[in-house]
Amino acid sequence: MSITSFTGGQPLGDEGKPARPQNIRPKITSSTIHEKKQRHEPITCLTAYDYATSRLVDQAGIDMILVGDSLAQVVLGYDNTLPVTMDEMLHHTRAVRRAVRSAMVIADMPFGAYHEDEKEGVHNAVRFVKEAGAEAVKLEGGAQRVNLVRRVLDAEVPVMGHIGLTPQSLHKMGGYKVQGKDFSGIERLVKDAVALDRAGVFSIVLEGVPREVAAMITREISCPTIGIGAGPDCDGQVLVFHDILNLTFGEPAKFIRRYGDAAALITNAVQQFKADVESGSYPSDAESYHLPKETRAELDTILRRKEMKAYR
Ligand code: KIV
Repeated sequence: MSITSFTGGQPLGDEGKPARPQNIRPKITSSTIHEKKQRHEPITCLTAYDYATSRLVDQAGIDMILVGDSLAQVVLGYDNTLPVTMDEMLHHTRAVRRAVRSAMVIADMPFGAYHEDEKEGVHNAVRFVKEAGAEAVKLEGGAQRVNLVRRVLDAEVPVMGHIGLTPQSLHKMGGYKVQGKDFSGIERLVKDAVALDRAGVFSIVLEGVPREVAAMITREISCPTIGIGAGPDCDGQVLVFHDILNLTFGEPAKFIRRYGDAAALITNAVQQFKADVESGSYPSDAESYHLPKETRAELDTILRRKEMKAYR
């Protein structure tokens, strides 16, 4: 890291100055999220996985930051979310925690962290709060997770549910498919949403669900729904950070809107750096450190004497 870069929120040489602007917005909690639903105010959520981007997302005023297990794909380069481990999720959640002041930080429970036994699920949820500073955890699944949700809540950890197209069920679903397209699917989704709501989750992600079904669930349950590929009638929306910035290297899904082209920005900057180094135009004299005047004069004298000796 360069000495002009972030150092835990404070550039080197600025010691003693406040680390952050003082006018930070109030802390977002699960109560804030609930109140937003009641006031019909749209809830915003983005994924983020590291210090710099989380800090920007937080400063831009997003309500919730999800350290999603999508990091398996967009950060670690796996084909799906299944391989990411608890240790990797904890590592990234800690980085996000260090950056974020106001947004609510939610950690995604990775595949295998709660599937084998509930006690282990509770243990892992607590680890996210205790070891990484998360304020809630997200877990995938509906009615079959109700006991686990209750036990995690008993351990004082708020829970975000996630139903519909649940990427951790990739193999069981037989691919990434929109869920709830027929009557039995719709019935299952509504039952799952109601069961999670009654169990006390503070919000539910609805992923890959027809707009009409998402709207019905949103009306039906008391906690906020956060949609991704679920239409505009949810209480809030979540997207993957890398998707909105063209950093995913593939055809975007139908519901993704690109808000920027970081791929083009990065490529252009890197190519310019390469060209400048190769042409000798970087670094310039102004981008170089210099000796103090007196030291330079002394050095010149020494060098001149050495040159003269060499001529003799
Ligand atoms: O991991 C993730 O990014 C998610 C969101 C898509 C909701 O679960």
